Amino acid sequence: MSRRAALSFVCQNCGAVFGRWQGKCDACGEWNTIAEESGDTPVASGPGKQLRKGRPFQLHPLSGGTEDAPRTPSGLGELDRVTGGGFVRGSVLLVGGDPGIGKSTLLIQAAAAIARAGHRAVYISGEEAVAQVRLRAGRLGLASAPVELAAETAVEDIVATLSAGTTPRLVVVDSIQTMWTDQIESSPGTVSQVRGAAQILIRFAKRSGAAVILVGHVTKDGQIAGPRVVEHMVDAVLSFEGEGAHLFRILRAVKNRFGPTDEIGVFEMTGGGLQEVANPSALFLSERDLGAPGTSVFAGIEGTRPLLVEIQALVVPTLLGTPRRAVVGWDQNRLAMVLAVLEAHCGVRLSGHDVYLNVAGGLRIQEPAADLAAAAALVSSLANAPLPSDAVYFGEISLSGTVRPVAQTAARLKEAAKLGFARAFVPDSAKGEAGDAGMALRAVGPLMELVADIAPKGMDRKGGERKPAQTAEK
Ligand code: TYD
Ligand code: MG
Repeated sequence: MSRRAALSFVCQNCGAVFGRWQGKCDACGEWNTIAEESGDTPVASGPGKQLRKGRPFQLHPLSGGTEDAPRTPSGLGELDRVTGGGFVRGSVLLVGGDPGIGKSTLLIQAAAAIARAGHRAVYISGEEAVAQVRLRAGRLGLASAPVELAAETAVEDIVATLSAGTTPRLVVVDSIQTMWTDQIESSPGTVSQVRGAAQILIRFAKRSGAAVILVGHVTKDGQIAGPRVVEHMVDAVLSFEGEGAHLFRILRAVKNRFGPTDEIGVFEMTGGGLQEVANPSALFLSERDLGAPGTSVFAGIEGTRPLLVEIQALVVPTLLGTPRRAVVGWDQNRLAMVLAVLEAHCGVRLSGHDVYLNVAGGLRIQEPAADLAAAAALVSSLANAPLPSDAVYFGEISLSGTVRPVAQTAARLKEAAKLGFARAFVPDSAKGEAGDAGMALRAVGPLMELVADIAPKGMDRKGGERKPAQTAEK
């Protein structure tokens, strides 16, 4: 038998294959994620098997008729915004996220909405019993929606069941890690099984025209096969995120063959399930600490939508040899860069201080435009100088210490004006594109201007005025 030869060692986090066991995966750097698996059985390995001869097929020119992908809107506006207008028929979507974030809740709501619109919607749960899913649906007030339900994990059975009768418009498979196929010998949850089961479900989607949604858990320790290996196989990957303690949930497209990848959908987890948040800026700013030093408001853009969020910084003298730099919701490298620019070009000495930076509300910002807001919050905290509470900040900081222009100035200012802000600290070039938002603009050329503006307003930690000795060295 050639069984032994087919054994391989597969990283359960990223799917890299090795010839022998090792403690650390060279491909993704994770520890203890490599497990022994029998490889996917080769189709024609035995001496008696014959390789099929290739069949010629027709090739097409680039020009010719095209059709827009036929979509089924879910009826949940924030979800449709992220998918690009609804579920595309015959496509496969992977929804990833930490356990307990609300994936099952979101998808039972979507399935119910589609079923209520008169389409066939099937929800297959590999994790919960039918009674549990019913209980949740009952709590969400969806019990009357004609969703078809099953608790199943064998993909061959699932495909056979779904192929009988009218093709469902939507099939939710919750989760891909619990699915298994007869064709592969590894145990459920391993990379081979997850990949094999996903392949069968993808083939079903393409053949039947049903939109299939796969749920995938992402575990930080990489013990369970992450959906990483599935990401390459599906048409779109959505990631459902949120900080545990916050009730906001953010749905973000990581990959999308049929729509944009920069839109986000914002939801709030309530007693009655996930509610759409139509005006996220108001929500993210609702618990603002007005007048406290170390907070600034960033006027950002997520996809096509402007989004205002609070940036909080805390700069305190360090007790350690190597000061701490901790970031939540922003890029660690960008923080390091902003700190270096403040140190090198603005005379702000931070090497003796721990620095903490947090984006309020559990949002994760990816735009470089947040540099200026982060710098303002950092200087404000160090100098103990509160920033004006009616001001927003945006602009990218270059390594030379100047503030560079960013896109969509008018949209950012309009959103800020709508929420009652009166001033904006912006890159020099933004003045020309401000539109008629009615905001007082303060152009910041070199970053030093901003530092020199904030630092002298610093107060003594106990309340009174203080000389800004340690911040601006002049
Ligand atoms: P769930 O959808 O089961 O998460 P996942 O499928 O991603 O693991 O949601 C789990 C959490 O959501 C759970 O902690 C309870 C909370 N929740 C609410 O707050 N309100 C609700 O109406 C529902 C159904 C769940
Ligand atoms: Mg679940």
